[in-house]
Amino acid sequence: MTLDRILQSQGFGTRRYCGDLVYAGLVEVDGEACDDPRARFEPEGLRLVVDGEAWICHVKAYLMLNKPAGYECSQRPLHHPSVYTLLPVPLRERGVQAVGRLDQDTTGLLLLSDDGQFIHAQTSPKRKVPKVYEVTTAEPVTLAQIEALRNGVQLDDEPAPLAAADCMGTGEHSMRLTLVQGKYHQVKRMVVAAGNHVTALHRSAVGPVSLDPGLAPGGWRWLHAEEVAQLTRKD
Ligand code: URA
Repeated sequence: MTLDRILQSQGFGTRRYCGDLVYAGLVEVDGEACDDPRARFEPEGLRLVVDGEAWICHVKAYLMLNKPAGYECSQRPLHHPSVYTLLPVPLRERGVQAVGRLDQDTTGLLLLSDDGQFIHAQTSPKRKVPKVYEVTTAEPVTLAQIEALRNGVQLDDEPAPLAAADCMGTGEHSMRLTLVQGKYHQVKRMVVAAGNHVTALHRSAVGPVSLDPGLAPGGWRWLHAEEVAQLTRKD
């Protein structure tokens, strides 16, 4: 692929603008200056420096973000900043989107991608991707509440009770809840239906991928190839 198209695909601007960046001597490829926008390279893994910013090319973007509290998972947020402001501009420009949504006050693992098929597969109800939540509660967690969450609780707008795929107490005021659906405010509403109240909610895993403990709140990283393979494995 030509260098101007590679830069465009990575979110650095229009093809014309990217060509101008190259002509202006502002682009290095694998450690060497390159001023020919039509020079051809294999994009995956290509190491660029664009106007002083180091960049590794990924044909498709698959990311994890440690979502902090106080951010909305919307491109057009209403009351809080958008999680997309936590990403570098090229990733926003190339159309990276959250895989599902977390509430503004929920923290933890948020996957993002610009691969529409991947997003669709991960959010499809048919796929039943398990999501693990660490829940802090207002009242002490009881065995009866855990049983109710495991067996199914009735939510107002649902035709049938919803059950957690797994639920265990992790402390006097905390539990770990695994859900395979992604209904609106599902954890909070299920915990209320079981007779308690969520005071803090943190997602620690989605399917086989756990939040990287090295990621500070607000930090992001590319998913490793193995993590993408695990998420997309059909079994
Ligand atoms: N369930 C909730 O109630 N909120 C979230 O952010 C995610 C799951």
